Amino acid sequence: MRATVIGTGYVGTVTGACLAYVGHRVTCVDTDEVKIARLRSGESVIYEPFLEELLLLAAARGGIDFQTELAGPAAESDVIFIAVGTPPLPSGEADLSYLETAARSIGAAMDGTRFRVVVNKSTVPVGSGNLVEALVREGIADARPGERRHIRFGVASNPEFLREGCALADSLYPDRIVIGASDEESLGIMRQLYQPLVEQSFEAPHGVPRPAGLSNVPLFTTTLTSAEMIKYAANAFLAMKIGFANEIANICERVGAEAPEVMTGIGLDSRIGKKFLNPGLGWGGSCFGKDIQSLLHTAREYGYESRLLQASLDVNTAQRQMVIQKLQEKLYILKGRTIGLLGLAFKPDTDDLRDAPSLHIAERLLAMGARVKAYDPIAMNACREQRPDLKIRYCESAGDLAQESDALVVVTEWQEFRTLDLAGLAGRMATRILVDGRNLYTPEAAAAAGFDYTGIGRMTRTRTADQREAGAAPGVARH
Ligand code: UGA
Repeated sequence: MRATVIGTGYVGTVTGACLAYVGHRVTCVDTDEVKIARLRSGESVIYEPFLEELLLLAAARGGIDFQTELAGPAAESDVIFIAVGTPPLPSGEADLSYLETAARSIGAAMDGTRFRVVVNKSTVPVGSGNLVEALVREGIADARPGERRHIRFGVASNPEFLREGCALADSLYPDRIVIGASDEESLGIMRQLYQPLVEQSFEAPHGVPRPAGLSNVPLFTTTLTSAEMIKYAANAFLAMKIGFANEIANICERVGAEAPEVMTGIGLDSRIGKKFLNPGLGWGGSCFGKDIQSLLHTAREYGYESRLLQASLDVNTAQRQMVIQKLQEKLYILKGRTIGLLGLAFKPDTDDLRDAPSLHIAERLLAMGARVKAYDPIAMNACREQRPDLKIRYCESAGDLAQESDALVVVTEWQEFRTLDLAGLAGRMATRILVDGRNLYTPEAAAAAGFDYTGIGRMTRTRTADQREAGAAPGVARH
């Protein structure tokens, strides 16, 4: 089939690459000429493992090209995806101006030669499907007033559930595909488009292996409004699950329980599930905060105050502050101290800094008079460019970061941090304090390396050892 994808951010580029890889002919359109030039030269504009390789493979299979003009590709396409940004406005509402421009331009590009499906893949407030339909109609009426009755199209919502850092696997092997549409013709075209993914009939690319046993992906069809709501509800639930893990971890820390053990213990209940229960220093990224704000805003428009969603935001803000408290407990005075941040990106395998806990922590520390150093394998350039106001000293390695630092804080759980020579790092520091914001190390290993260690929701080494000796440690009973 022939598809056009508008917007070459995370969602647009990955969607375009994956659809072309499974055999469709795809054009990705963006008004940003620099981005399009880079994509044409084979360079990905976002950091995502294996994306550049997949774009090359996609070009060789279904075929993919990059354009700044929408009219030509849209006129030739059966499916036109809108995957533009919907950044938050100060009120928490989503800014729909890019979406509105895209919808009108699609209308202007349409003619009566075929039925087309306009698919909303951007995360948009509930009810935006209707808005898109109205704007496409306006675009048609402005461009071809005489032909508008002969131009046929449908509108669908196809929310995206990919995670940055594993976007390709999430797109090629999704847990589910959700399509909301009000007419059978649109649903039929969308089913056909996604058939290779549903049947998993394509050869897995070597860099993105297919999960063992995956032979079919559920395609769930709903109304437009339910599909839009599914996206918000999924993100709100995931953020709430992490927030819950953080709340329990904070209680664990006080009563002397090990949060990772508690999370394993509850996650084994299939009703709860073990994923997204890792306590840490709060979630970040471009989606959870924005989407919860937007859902709260929508609820308020209907006179409903969602206390659970608001609490989810509040506990996350408090969790980021936890690191500062832990540093104060260990160092008392932070003014004049040197704090080294291991990691800046909001999560591993991305250079994305949007709503990253690292930025919040650096801001607070600098405001309190501390000196802040940072090392991140990928995100340092992005941080230099995006936050020149933050007087961070960027380091070439974890060793450089540790040199003369008073404390290290693990902010992002990059794979390379898991195998660091902890004793070597401790030996370079002025004071050997390690705040492990991602529970990357065991308290025992950190203590053996000479660190005064504190994690999230964990007992100190001594208390762990004492309890174990007394036979009180959880996990001793085995069936
Ligand atoms: C999230 C959702 O997981 C995707 O399904 C969704 O498509 C996407 O938002 C979106 O709406 O675009 P993403 O923001 O890329 O994906 O990243 P996640 O892997 O969900 O991580 C979000 C944050 O939660 C990170 O800061 C991560 O460190 C944190 N996290 C995650 C935890 O603190 N604990 C966990 O157990 C899991």
